[in-house]
Amino acid sequence: MINITGLKINKNSSSKRIVDIKIKEEIIIELINLFKRFDLTAIEYKPFTRFTVAKYLDDLTKNELSKYLNDILRDRKTGCFIIGPEDITNEVDDNFLVKLSTAITHLIGIPNHDSMSGKFYARFHVKHEDKSDSYLRKAYNNLDLHTDGTYVKEITDWLMMTKIHEKNAKEGESVMLHLDDWESCDELFNDPIGRENFIWGSPKSKNVDYKVMHPIFTEDNNGFPQISYIDQFPEPQNMIQGLFLQKLSDALEGSKNKLILKLSIGSAIVANNHFWLHGRRPFKLNKNLSRELLRIRGSFITN
Ligand SMILES: [Fe+2]
Repeated sequence: MINITGLKINKNSSSKRIVDIKIKEEIIIELINLFKRFDLTAIEYKPFTRFTVAKYLDDLTKNELSKYLNDILRDRKTGCFIIGPEDITNEVDDNFLVKLSTAITHLIGIPNHDSMSGKFYARFHVKHEDKSDSYLRKAYNNLDLHTDGTYVKEITDWLMMTKIHEKNAKEGESVMLHLDDWESCDELFNDPIGRENFIWGSPKSKNVDYKVMHPIFTEDNNGFPQISYIDQFPEPQNMIQGLFLQKLSDALEGSKNKLILKLSIGSAIVANNHFWLHGRRPFKLNKNLSRELLRIRGSFITN
């Protein structure tokens, strides 16, 4: 693994495809001070300020972090890292974690507008009770493997999920699967149905009032498979499409190569959204269950 000032970098213990990056306390202390210049309103209202906080972070790593994160995310063999402060002190609070997540994502690209929150990021709670219309907040259901951005026009090259806070939460681990580790990838990628256009809609809470059309599988520039899929939103137009989606869903959930990852508070998973799928296991029943997550999705800067 490479050496970068202020970081501890290791391979993740569950997978050689995932890089663990811990930000040392000395950098966190500096960032806490530097970030004080901007409140969350400034971060939300002024897109250029998001690049300023990103530069603070990159400068503290001698401008090596931005290149490293981009290399990992674009490398087909890896495409995923877990990043967060090495130590969680009182000052590493929710505001700080929003700013840190903003900084990290602006070293990678430009976030998409999140229609659910009306901002470039979304914070949401998972609790014991839920009356929403999507699996995202249903604590005791499996959130099946999927990619993000399947029902929007914007390109979603990457996604970040940061754990802001958690109490009385057992299980509910993150589940990840890399396409090249998936036993059924060749079979389904080579099925012509997967290359057909499907119609994708979304429930009311997503605040997206249009539908899009795209295939489930495409090829990247080197001929490798890419996937854009989530179980809840494709609208099959005939039996063949319906049965293909069922087969795909069963093959993903039945994979023996899914990774079960425990994310610590303050840490974020960042993954390439074209060849990594993500999901969540059900939580253990607890009336006081509370987890808060932050998500940011976006595109790479192409230059
Ligand atoms: Fe997702």
